[in-house]
Amino acid sequence: SSSFVSYDGRVVVVTGAGNGIGRAHALTLASRGARVVVNDLGGAVDGSGTSGAAQRVVDEIVAAGGEAVASTDSVATVEGGRALIDTAIEAWGRVDAVIHNAGILRDRSFAKMEDADVTSVLDVHLGGAFNVLRPAWPHMVEAGYGRIVLTTSSSGLLGNFGQSSYAAAKAGLIGLMNVLALEGARSGILVNAISPTAATRMTEGLLGELAERFDPQHVAAVATYLASEQCELDRTILTVGGGRVGRVFIGVTPGWYGGREPATPDDVLDAIGEITSLDDFIVPKGGADEIALIQQVLGSD
Ligand code: NAI
Repeated sequence: SSSFVSYDGRVVVVTGAGNGIGRAHALTLASRGARVVVNDLGGAVDGSGTSGAAQRVVDEIVAAGGEAVASTDSVATVEGGRALIDTAIEAWGRVDAVIHNAGILRDRSFAKMEDADVTSVLDVHLGGAFNVLRPAWPHMVEAGYGRIVLTTSSSGLLGNFGQSSYAAAKAGLIGLMNVLALEGARSGILVNAISPTAATRMTEGLLGELAERFDPQHVAAVATYLASEQCELDRTILTVGGGRVGRVFIGVTPGWYGGREPATPDDVLDAIGEITSLDDFIVPKGGADEIALIQQVLGSD
């Protein structure tokens, strides 16, 4: 390859980097010259408990000749997010990129879920993004540079039984991506998301016979590209697993125009085929693009 993704001392915060996909992100980033804040509370898959997972990954990075510091702060609280970004600033005085990857699972059908199955999952995945990115943001704006990678999921984008809170949090991250991309544009901040599939403790027993092919390293390569200076993508969702990389997008169709007088429910019933047809969709770059599309239709009537 003639292209090279490099970090050259840039400072990257990776949440949930003590295990699985986040660990692969941290090791890959460090191998490209990034200085990495390895954040991990070190809990179990359901978020309970703590351990030294972050420090173990830091030790691996340092042993390989890289630079990293550990943070055991929980991203699920405002204070934890602030302390995590403080760790980056105290160590190296800057935050060039944040990969928010920390996550927990508490699968339960909607009928059976308990209060904590809602709040704890929302707090880590979606709340965590706010808790970490809000303190990181002013540093990026001041530097006129930033890269943000959020971790969404096929559960959130497409649905998965028993994962209502997880899916809502993961889809919520796409809403956050869309707005931060717009607000960060004039400050050189690019915001993208990955939707991974990887063999980790989180997916143990779920990926079938080919599980070992779903090496988290496949995901780390894409995240390390997205968080780099070489990345020019913005507001884009890349889906990656087992070496296959694709894109997921939200499209809007031209739809049906019912005229100047408000349609009746019966008109909608009659037109529902045309309304829901996927032909000739566009991929808007923001909400304003859809308003422009409507204005174009109205203008020609
Ligand atoms: P994992 O369980 O191996 O890693 C997640 C890490 O996040 C753990 O080390 C955990 O301690 C850490 N963490 C949890 N709560 C935290 C908190 N409050 N503060 C700091 N760290 C915390 O799981 P995996 O598979 O590596 O997942 C990484 C991300 O990818 C998650 O966001 C997950 O939802 C997402 N994902 C994974 C998929 C897969 O196929 N493995 C599929 C779709 C999404």
